[in-house]
Amino acid sequence: MEGKKNKILVFGGTGYIGKYMVKASISLGYPTFVYTRPINTKTPSSKIQLCDEFNSLGVTLVEGELEHDRILKVIKQVDIVICTFPYPLVMEQLKIIDAIKVAGNIKRFLPSDFGVEEDKVHPLPPFQVFLDKKIKIRREIEAARIPYTFVSANCFGAYFVNFLLRPYESNKDIVVYGNGETKDLPPPEDIPVSILHSIFVKGDLMNFELGEDDLEASKLYPDYNYTSIDKLLDKFLVDPPPPASASFQ
Ligand SMILES: NC(=O)c1ccc[n+]([C@@H]2O[C@H](COP(=O)([O-])OP(=O)(O)OC[C@H]3O[C@@H](n4cnc5c(N)ncnc54)[C@H](OP(=O)(O)O)[C@@H]3O)[C@@H](O)[C@H]2O)c1
Repeated sequence: MEGKKNKILVFGGTGYIGKYMVKASISLGYPTFVYTRPINTKTPSSKIQLCDEFNSLGVTLVEGELEHDRILKVIKQVDIVICTFPYPLVMEQLKIIDAIKVAGNIKRFLPSDFGVEEDKVHPLPPFQVFLDKKIKIRREIEAARIPYTFVSANCFGAYFVNFLLRPYESNKDIVVYGNGETKDLPPPEDIPVSILHSIFVKGDLMNFELGEDDLEASKLYPDYNYTSIDKLLDKFLVDPPPPASASFQ
């Protein structure tokens, strides 16, 4: 007989990556909770539609701000916590870590990583400052002895294809980086450029070996039918998704 399914709570579950996590969790049969900011008159209709969709899928939506007592109450009801907060909220995860420490029941926490393997890359300073915050969260989780999985997603295919190739734009001009004219970008505009430099110029994603505690995701899910970039481009030619852009402030 199948054991009791773990209950999964997602912070940031209505976001770019979070919504995929929530739908995957529910489709695999896990009781799924989403902790979300309260809906009000300023809430975009896209989020309201998504919340309706989550409700119809059987997701439990918990509305609230990031207050200790409120998040502690929800964390006590679940087994696994996943956080997909955007970069500006990375340090807010300290509140989740505090609540997990007090609750004492969480079997696994996945913090909002989902980018490069921040313990192993050495990018330009604007991106390093960005990563330092995510690294701090990793160290806090380890110090608190919370069971964890750190996920390095590297580049989300659709996100970067859209960002670099802009298939939704019909104009004939293209921007070519590196014409020799040095520009000084103010923060946070210097972050995306230094991310692109790290990935595409330095090749940071390919510059390290996996250690004995690391696992390549394709080995974890060998039966999963991955979408190749070729297949993605075919889809984008016909029906490009709206552009996505991560927030940096
Ligand atoms: N590897 C890649 O290609 C790639 C690309 C983009 C992002 N990322 C990483 O993936 C992670 C998630 O990024 P994302 O772009 O998916 O995030 P996002 O969509 O910008 O935000 C996720 C959710 O966080 C909540 N949120 C946003 N602003 C908030 C605020 N001011 N106060 C409280 N809650 C707020 C919202 O949920 P509610 O409204 O429901 O509360 C939002 O839906 C980040 O760590 C990012 O660095 C990786």
